[in-house]
Amino acid sequence: MRTIKILLICFLALIYSCKKKNNSTTGLITTKAMVVSAREEASKIGTDILKQGGNAFDAMVATQFALAVAHPSAGNISGGGFMVYRKENGDIGSIDFREKAPLSAHKDMYLDSTGNVIPGMSTLGATAVGVPGSVAGAIEVHKKFGTLPLSKILAPVIALAEKGVVVTEKQEKKIAPYLQDFIKVNGEYSKFSIPYKAGDTIKYKALANTLKSISKHGRDGFYKGDVAKKLSSFIQKNGGFVTEEDLEKYNVKWRQPVIFKYKELKIISMGAPSSGGITMQQIFKMIEPHNIKEFGHNSTKSIQLFTEASRRAYADRNYFLGDPDFVSIPLDVLLSNDYLENRMKDFSFDKATKSSTVSHGEVNIISESNETTHYSIIDKDGNAVSVTTTLNGNYGSKLFCDELGFFLNNEMDDFSAKPGIPNMFGLIGADANSIAPEKRMLSSMTPTIVEKDNKLWMVVGTPGGSTIITAVAQTILNTYEYSLNMQEAVNAPRFHHQWLPDAVIFEPNGFSKALKEELKAKEYIINEERTPIIGKVDAILVLPDGRLEAGADKRGDDTAVGY
Ligand code: GLY
Repeated sequence: MRTIKILLICFLALIYSCKKKNNSTTGLITTKAMVVSAREEASKIGTDILKQGGNAFDAMVATQFALAVAHPSAGNISGGGFMVYRKENGDIGSIDFREKAPLSAHKDMYLDSTGNVIPGMSTLGATAVGVPGSVAGAIEVHKKFGTLPLSKILAPVIALAEKGVVVTEKQEKKIAPYLQDFIKVNGEYSKFSIPYKAGDTIKYKALANTLKSISKHGRDGFYKGDVAKKLSSFIQKNGGFVTEEDLEKYNVKWRQPVIFKYKELKIISMGAPSSGGITMQQIFKMIEPHNIKEFGHNSTKSIQLFTEASRRAYADRNYFLGDPDFVSIPLDVLLSNDYLENRMKDFSFDKATKSSTVSHGEVNIISESNETTHYSIIDKDGNAVSVTTTLNGNYGSKLFCDELGFFLNNEMDDFSAKPGIPNMFGLIGADANSIAPEKRMLSSMTPTIVEKDNKLWMVVGTPGGSTIITAVAQTILNTYEYSLNMQEAVNAPRFHHQWLPDAVIFEPNGFSKALKEELKAKEYIINEERTPIIGKVDAILVLPDGRLEAGADKRGDDTAVGY
């Protein structure tokens, strides 16, 4: 009888533990390779390329172009971005395919005769468009590391554009608020000047033709010839500045990534003209002396510490960072331990530091776009790529070229149109990020790869404008310090602070009232209205046994596909 009782208890314990396991949130797990992106269609096309023998770089090209079809609010061929890579042999590097200012651009181009910023000029319509870099980026990656023919990689993307993509419920909600802007910018007869509902199929015939030109002629199929002529004359006809010469002259840059240690981790991220890696390094290094794990996940103390590190890092970001080909950034000082230690000297757990005492500036809260898109890829050999790419705002400038089939970016708004005046993300810029011909605008994109014990451990990144950097950092901390699995780390509620405005933004419903009251008592200003979500993180974690776990963000239609 006693034995039966013991067996029964063991059986019940087993059932309970299985149930618990099933209840815990785990992302897709695969044994060999994986693509995680904003749309299933794009992740599938990228994975199919991997299955056909392509490597992570071939899959990068496929996914980049597939997102331009399946996720037109941010996926693009007319925006820009950054890729950080780690090859299976441990080689690391990064490529900058950020947009550039046109040759005719100048410092005061968005100011009126009295020196004030002209509302909308750097955000809406052709005047906001920077010289696109995405096609040059993808083609350069393919040239350097690709193994499959470009035509083979682009064939499924062209097929998808011709067959069309079904509008999801989330997409319907996202696109609806922009209808009036689309009509204002493009007139009543443009492809996006009608409402789209969930279940509708949008076909992209014109985009398919543009992709065919790229498939046949590579980079020249976009930056020269027929497409370049049509694109530049379309932008200029609408009042913009990008010329055929601008397109032809566009160049990508291979850059040294930002590399730093955080405890046992080696974090590899994007350097300037992205602020992502540098700002994240400052945040991590200001946190490192504290035992944030002991404070607890999203506890008052860990939020305080992260917020205060972010406050100081963003103040530096906004003042010192810009295109390194144009400005000299004092990285040796900004990233030195003494400097960062000194930055945190006035931090206390008793009370919030006021941003006005960290630096100066008054700012209105501007409603924030949550756009840009990120994808993470690992192939069967262990090559990893982390790519963040953008049109800047949702659907970029809202200017849609019907003849070529795509939206144009509004990346010029990432410059500081006037020092001290916030851009659409509420970021205050300085002279380092002022406009000049052929200069790249400062970015927050933070494509990141993390090593643990000298081995590939995580590939991670997110959209979210100025919130990108904090969302990526929190995802890494969630997994490393708080032992959340990849999907849980992505799902966990996020918060954000960027020096100015002097408020901590919380995802609504993710944090208790008591916690927020405690922070308010310490004089933190809490803002839950500014943005309903912070980032849409797409990440891959290499598990101890070598399998891959996805973190595909449930905040969007993001999906992992692998094998
Ligand atoms: N356009 C957003 C960023 O580059 O940070």
